Amino acid sequence: MSKQSIRVDNLVKRFTKGEEVVSIVENASFKIDKGELVALIAPSGAGKTTLLMMIGCVEKPTSGVIYLGDEKVYDDKWLTKQTRKIRREKIGFIFQAHYLIPFLTVLENIILVPQTNGVSPEESERFAMELLEYFDIADKAHSMPSELSGGQNQRVAIARALANRPQIILADEPTAALDSQRSVSVVQMLKKIALEQDVAIVMVTHDEAMLPLCDRILKIEDKKIISSKIEGNTQETLV
Ligand SMILES: Nc1ncnc2c1ncn2[C@@H]1O[C@H](COP(=O)(O)OP(=O)(O)OP(=O)(O)O)[C@@H](O)[C@H]1O
Ligand SMILES: [Mg+2]
Repeated sequence: MSKQSIRVDNLVKRFTKGEEVVSIVENASFKIDKGELVALIAPSGAGKTTLLMMIGCVEKPTSGVIYLGDEKVYDDKWLTKQTRKIRREKIGFIFQAHYLIPFLTVLENIILVPQTNGVSPEESERFAMELLEYFDIADKAHSMPSELSGGQNQRVAIARALANRPQIILADEPTAALDSQRSVSVVQMLKKIALEQDVAIVMVTHDEAMLPLCDRILKIEDKKIISSKIEGNTQETLV
């Protein structure tokens, strides 16, 4: 098994708006290893969410190649009819707003996806409780999301993203709704998860204070992807 978790070769995304073709990403190529926490930064509208959604098999690229692990999932077309299965089994999504289902308890929110994937109620509940303990909110298992603070709900959302034991976590501004102290603790938690569970995490952020907590930065600049290491701050243009 290689260390590769995500690999993108010559990825292109263009939207057609009437007669006009809007180019978002041109020939992006990069690789993310298991265990890496990578920050994705760029100005608003530059294509961060679009890029995450392509990697997450939600948004169809215009052209290019995407590998998830060692499996090629896109090569100018989806190579599987099972994109929904890939999303459910391989990928955990975390969004800016936590999007917990308001009429389910914390525990019920977390076990929803594993149960859809065929994990037994006992096992999904056991693992959900283990995650809640890990995030120090086990006492909230039977509370409703409305009874939790923003930071607590965001930790539930991270637990939910982990509940299907994903190989990849795609987090779109997971700390945007949190104060700086809570943001640091959420990102530190993501780093710990990346390391301990060998998961690759791509995190969109507008908060520069989060960058030193990450292993690497991917920046979208002039529709190209630039990678820079945090230490030493060396930049290499990948396209
Ligand atoms: N379905 C779509 N059809 C047409 N254009 C779209 C579509 N989705 C996104 N876009 C355009 O693509 C560009 C990139 O959008 P995207 O949401 O990826 O940006 P972003 O970097 O995530 O921005 P933000 O920081 O504001 O979240 C925007 O100009 C947006 O208007
Ligand atoms: Mg966005």
